[in-house]
Amino acid sequence: MDKKITLNFKEKEFEFPLIKGTEEELGIDIKTLRAKTGLITLDPGFKNTGSCVSNITYLDGEDGILRYRGYDIDDLASNSSFIEVSFLLIFGEMPSSEQLNKFENDIRKESLVHEDITSILKSFPHGAHPMGVLASLTSALISFNPGSVDVNSEDKMYHVIVQIIAKFSVITSWVHRKVKGLPLNYSDNSLSYVENLSQMMFRKPNEEYENNHIITSALNKLLILHADHEQNCSTSTVRIVGSSEAGLFASISAGISALWGRLHGGANQAVIEMLELIKRDGGDTSKFMEMAKDKNHPFRLMGFGHRVYKNFDPRAKIIRKTADDVLKNLGIEDPILDIAKGLEREALNDKYFVDRKLYPNVDFYSGIIYRALEIPTEMFTVMFALGRLPGWIAQWREMRLNKEPIGRPRQVYNGSRLRKVGTKL
Ligand code: CMC
Repeated sequence: MDKKITLNFKEKEFEFPLIKGTEEELGIDIKTLRAKTGLITLDPGFKNTGSCVSNITYLDGEDGILRYRGYDIDDLASNSSFIEVSFLLIFGEMPSSEQLNKFENDIRKESLVHEDITSILKSFPHGAHPMGVLASLTSALISFNPGSVDVNSEDKMYHVIVQIIAKFSVITSWVHRKVKGLPLNYSDNSLSYVENLSQMMFRKPNEEYENNHIITSALNKLLILHADHEQNCSTSTVRIVGSSEAGLFASISAGISALWGRLHGGANQAVIEMLELIKRDGGDTSKFMEMAKDKNHPFRLMGFGHRVYKNFDPRAKIIRKTADDVLKNLGIEDPILDIAKGLEREALNDKYFVDRKLYPNVDFYSGIIYRALEIPTEMFTVMFALGRLPGWIAQWREMRLNKEPIGRPRQVYNGSRLRKVGTKL
């Protein structure tokens, strides 16, 4: 195969290297394009543009494959803990038992959050969206840990990484407690990461709390399934903010804001709102299917379609089964699940959805599990952010270690040409 690609422009030939990934993906390396030709490329939404070479996550949208560092998502979700997967994503290999012990202990040492953060939390109005609160508190953490910004050695990087993993689960649980009007819980260092998260989120002041294996195992799976997804909107945001050396916490805060939108992480909230709307409307899914297909109607079937997957989202397959198991084991009958299944059945057999390769994505089922765990709907995207944290960290670390240049896209300017103040139109 040719290792170069040739571009003809103004009767001249320019050569650009072809880059081949370990899974045979091909890309044209255009780093020298503007310098050689004066041209730039135009690609709104970056549908054809690679922003980096990455060793972290492999995704094949046509065949529905998702792998972290070479491990299949199904394998990881069935056989590992969220903290093991976090270590794998961030540092590249599955931890040995000593490495895992050290990592967990280092995280435990950082599991206190400055008490003044609770005053900031309290000052938010009751109806504040939890994603806005989470982004603000993550930013606020910088003021209480100023050393987290300037990290120019691997040791310092390691330190801010364990800091954010420890403190992020605490503030996530606090955002949840605020939404529910419950007093805040603190970390219990005798527990595993997911058990500790559960007690911080769910333990009530007036009842004994015992960790429930069904809940911790579902949370562990959900967090793993969300842990990374290569260069999506929020991850690219984290890399681009981090490329200015703004610091890890600021980059994560920006990633949270990017994730908030309903076309990205906010879809899990939008799915449940849509299913509830269908239920209130009498449960007729075909009416909503027609609306979704009508180009003059803004309605879209939330939880369907994906920029990259043109096949079943492999995460959706796992989560669909987990949703069934959780509801069965907790003895919950949720009519919303029946509506979701009906909608899925219809869409998978509908020409519009089949022709456009629109399949259920991860968000179609995650909300049903969160609902069963009595997590409020507006908290769903916060749970997504908690899962995505190790992926964001891994991508930030890779970008810093690769010494990638500051992200600064170009544009094609199409506005007014030079004019003078006072000239009439
Ligand atoms: N319902 C109805 N039609 C749809 C849908 C949908 N959910 N998704 C895409 N289409 C149609 C779209 O109208 C277009 O039709 P046409 O070719 O006739 O103009 C075609 O399918 C291609 O859609 P697109 O918007 O060009 O595709 P995209 O890659 O730009 O968008 C998407 C991907 C995820 C934004 C989109 O599918 C969508 O809005 N889905 C609903 C929101 C959702 O579930 N988002 C969660 C994504 S997964 C979690 C994450 O990783 O963030």
